[in-house]
Amino acid sequence: MSVPIARTVAGLRQILAGWRRNGASVAVVPTMGALHEGHLSLVRAALQTADRVIVTLFVNPKQFNSAADLAAYPRTENEDAAKLVPLGAHLLYAPHGEEMYPAGFATTVSVSGVSEGLCGAFRPGHFEGVATVVAKLFLQTGADFGFFGEKDFQQLQLVRRMVRDLDIPITVVACPTVREADGLALSSRNVRLSPAERAVAPKLPSVLSETAELLARGSPVLSTLAAAREAILAAGYREVEYLELCDEAELRPTTLLERPARLLVAAWLGGTRLIDNVAVSPVGSTD
Ligand code: PAF
Repeated sequence: MSVPIARTVAGLRQILAGWRRNGASVAVVPTMGALHEGHLSLVRAALQTADRVIVTLFVNPKQFNSAADLAAYPRTENEDAAKLVPLGAHLLYAPHGEEMYPAGFATTVSVSGVSEGLCGAFRPGHFEGVATVVAKLFLQTGADFGFFGEKDFQQLQLVRRMVRDLDIPITVVACPTVREADGLALSSRNVRLSPAERAVAPKLPSVLSETAELLARGSPVLSTLAAAREAILAAGYREVEYLELCDEAELRPTTLLERPARLLVAAWLGGTRLIDNVAVSPVGSTD
């Protein structure tokens, strides 16, 4: 058994037309491959929501800041396709670079506000690349539902904003971050950690959840965040790129817990950049 693969927009649309003739609803799970349990949880959720599920696999050059990072990105299509078979995904859409960005491609989708701080401040052009490719994948698949993980929370909010602003007829579904038993958020980057770094890595989610707890109980935001940064560095992380409490909708830094908020972090462990986030609600709040 294998999962069917489409490589072209025309091939994809031919399959979609057959599904639509039969009245099937369609979900898309955008990925860059190197599938792990986090991706598979999105596929499972999509299969519970829609009649047909397309997993896309495209290592999008427009969202990488460095050529070396793009070259080093794992490409494991055969293994990825094999992982989709037992789940029952209906189609793998894995276009080549020229299919997505033919010669003369000149359009960029840019979402201001939500994409400017946090990762956006450290990875120029990254979110334009994400928005452009996700817009294309939504338009190419015409899916009813798009599934994204909360692990990449800023990406999720950017996609939601883009869908709203451009009236793209798709429902964005967010799924919780999948974690290892020790709390480390699953990421394709985790394989780059040495055994010693892997042992230190879970300190990030543990500081994050302790800090969220303190903030929820009313600890002053700035000093609590400063102490958390110190704890991450003391654990062995090389650099904390950002650690911020933001309002959840706009991702603007906040020192007030009046609305649903999110604590977000990016930190370097040796040569690996890890990101994570957790929800923060004031104790007693029903949000
Ligand atoms: O989260 C990812 O893997 C990518 O940013 C996405 C959404 C597939 C776009 O390339």
